[in-house]
Amino acid sequence: MTRVFITGTAGFIGYHLAQLLLDEGMAVHGFDGMTDYYDVSLKARRHQMLLQSPNFTATEAMLEDVAALDSAVDACAPDIIVHLAAQAGVRYSLENPRAYIEANVVGTFNVMEAAKRHEVRHLLMASTSSVYGAETDMPYAETQKADTPMTIYAATKKATEAMGHSYAHLWNLPTTMFRFFTVYGPWGRPDMALYKFVDAILEGRPIDVYNHGEMYRDFTYVTDLVRGIRLLMDAAPVRPQSPEAIAEGDSLSPVAPYRVVNIGNSRTVRLTDFVDAIEAALGMTAERNLIEIQKGDVPATWADASLLRSLTGYSPDTDVRDGVRQFVAWFRDYYGR
Ligand SMILES: NC(=O)c1ccc[n+]([C@@H]2O[C@H](COP(=O)([O-])OP(=O)(O)OC[C@H]3O[C@@H](n4cnc5c(N)ncnc54)[C@H](O)[C@@H]3O)[C@@H](O)[C@H]2O)c1
Repeated sequence: MTRVFITGTAGFIGYHLAQLLLDEGMAVHGFDGMTDYYDVSLKARRHQMLLQSPNFTATEAMLEDVAALDSAVDACAPDIIVHLAAQAGVRYSLENPRAYIEANVVGTFNVMEAAKRHEVRHLLMASTSSVYGAETDMPYAETQKADTPMTIYAATKKATEAMGHSYAHLWNLPTTMFRFFTVYGPWGRPDMALYKFVDAILEGRPIDVYNHGEMYRDFTYVTDLVRGIRLLMDAAPVRPQSPEAIAEGDSLSPVAPYRVVNIGNSRTVRLTDFVDAIEAALGMTAERNLIEIQKGDVPATWADASLLRSLTGYSPDTDVRDGVRQFVAWFRDYYGR
């Protein structure tokens, strides 16, 4: 039985990934600090759902607690580690930048040390489309520059990419970094636009539509995203014989078993169309409060997902209207509203 250690299993994406792997008959150990960045009861509920499987065990502790992390990884003796726990969120990084350094930089370092010690078959870690920062050349490809992060959140994720590369090189640790593009779906995060909009519309409150609706996001449905992660787990990078052996468009490092892979829908959706889809799913009209773009926000994201396709044969394709309907159905059922 394949043993997988996943950090962030009480979180949105970690919960969905763990569920998928358990359904496939793998043994999963989840590690999560249950931080209070958003409603802890939603996190507890996700863990309760996972604990219904006999193949799921969990540790509640912080990544910064090296002793707790090491003993959890030792007990699991994983074949694969998927590191998703992080201080997420672009806007909160302006308020509490230190939380990002601690969770994302120090926490990720501790996970890398554990992966090295256990000589795992593959270490996979979450980065973000935010690392493309001020780049305007779209769709974003992994081989293009991403040196202009606009927030400390993006900067810490870029740092984890560089840290991951160094360990892949030094210790021959096969490492894949994902760049996720605006993930949404059932069990989604209360700090993200979809959740906030649905919550406000149902209560008759206005919604804040940034940049007067002239925002574009490559919305990626969570079920598609975790399927992409699952397939990449079997596509561990191998250090190339020479730089010439690297295929066109592959982000594989010339000196390490390391690559960066976008997971996005390859379609960019205007914020106003996204709100239209929410209104249609709810059968209600939103009061739109059109405001300026927020500091640190980028006006658009759009993924080139051809590397994911060439590595796995798979591309996310859920239409945003279908995905939004699924989220709204979950939200109404979960909260009874
Ligand atoms: N959701 C998105 O749109 C998106 C986009 C790009 C990248 N990502 C990345 O994907 C990963 C998962 O995101 P998510 O949306 O599931 O977020 P989430 O906040 O729902 O999940 C993260 C989990 O990590 C835990 N955590 C945070 N700091 C911790 C620490 N120091 N020690 C232990 N546990 C800690 C939290 O309790 C939470 O349950 C993150 O790395 C995030 O940066 C997400």
